[in-house]
Amino acid sequence: MTRGLKFNLDKELLDKLEVITGSIHRADMIDEQGWTSAVHKISAANGNYILKSSFKEKYREWLKTEAEVLKKLKSQQEIPVPEYMHYIEETGRNHLLMSYEEGVTLTKALREAASQDEKKQLMKSFGQLLCRLHETETAHLEHTGDWLEDQLKRADRYLKAGECDGDRELLEKLKANRLAEVKQTVIHGDCTTDNVMVRDGEVRLFIDVAGMTVGDPRYDVALAIRKVMADSELTEAFYEGYGLFRLSSREFNYFENGLYEFF
Ligand SMILES: Nc1ncnc2c1ncn2[C@@H]1O[C@H](COP(=O)(O)OP(=O)(O)OP(=O)(O)O)[C@@H](O)[C@H]1O
Ligand SMILES: [Mg+2]
Repeated sequence: MTRGLKFNLDKELLDKLEVITGSIHRADMIDEQGWTSAVHKISAANGNYILKSSFKEKYREWLKTEAEVLKKLKSQQEIPVPEYMHYIEETGRNHLLMSYEEGVTLTKALREAASQDEKKQLMKSFGQLLCRLHETETAHLEHTGDWLEDQLKRADRYLKAGECDGDRELLEKLKANRLAEVKQTVIHGDCTTDNVMVRDGEVRLFIDVAGMTVGDPRYDVALAIRKVMADSELTEAFYEGYGLFRLSSREFNYFENGLYEFF
């Protein structure tokens, strides 16, 4: 089998995985690596899988949360996410095994789109998928208090540990100038174009779901449009698909140039 670049899957780990996957034929690092983890595609007797592994304490925490979210969503059809398979904790690293899903990230699809119309179609489709998520009435993700309050606390923790871009002054501003509340909904929680996948020209699947919970839907919208804001046609196409509400510039800035700086 081909070995990974960043770290090798050792025999001990492979043995644990094979209990689920059956005999492993190949394990390759995929091309589109994220920031916080090493991602392998695994081809095995029982099918294809994605193995996501994290090493730093902060990211290991996120991966554990992602595993918990996927596990909760395993038996439902409403929210399209990869299927949870297994979660393993080892000293210094942890691993999440999930189903391999065909497709490419929306970031890549936008980059490779042949025309502006194709890009508009993709952004509209992204809006539609996010609208569906925000309208989901699910018992799988329960309401757990004040989402923004929790995020501000988490930001404080990362700031104290020196683990983020944002500074104290910005955080105090965010605490003092909270937005008027809106109805909380199911949210993705890190809804960038990197974290949704496209197949056959449609945005179909959410990945990287550690932040998926009940929270402020404006955060998702801000992250969804942050990379296309400069292109008003693409922003409009997103809103055409989304349809629930539009962000004011104050709302956009609160999240994109505010809270997001801490994660
Ligand atoms: N279930 C899956 N099926 C196919 N490809 C996947 C799957 N999950 C992840 N990928 C691929 O792996 C890449 C990285 O995955 P992911 O976004 O979950 O990790 P990450 O970016 O390291 O996490 P983070 O955003 O926390 O840094 C994605 O861009 C995607 O190409
Ligand atoms: Mg990601």
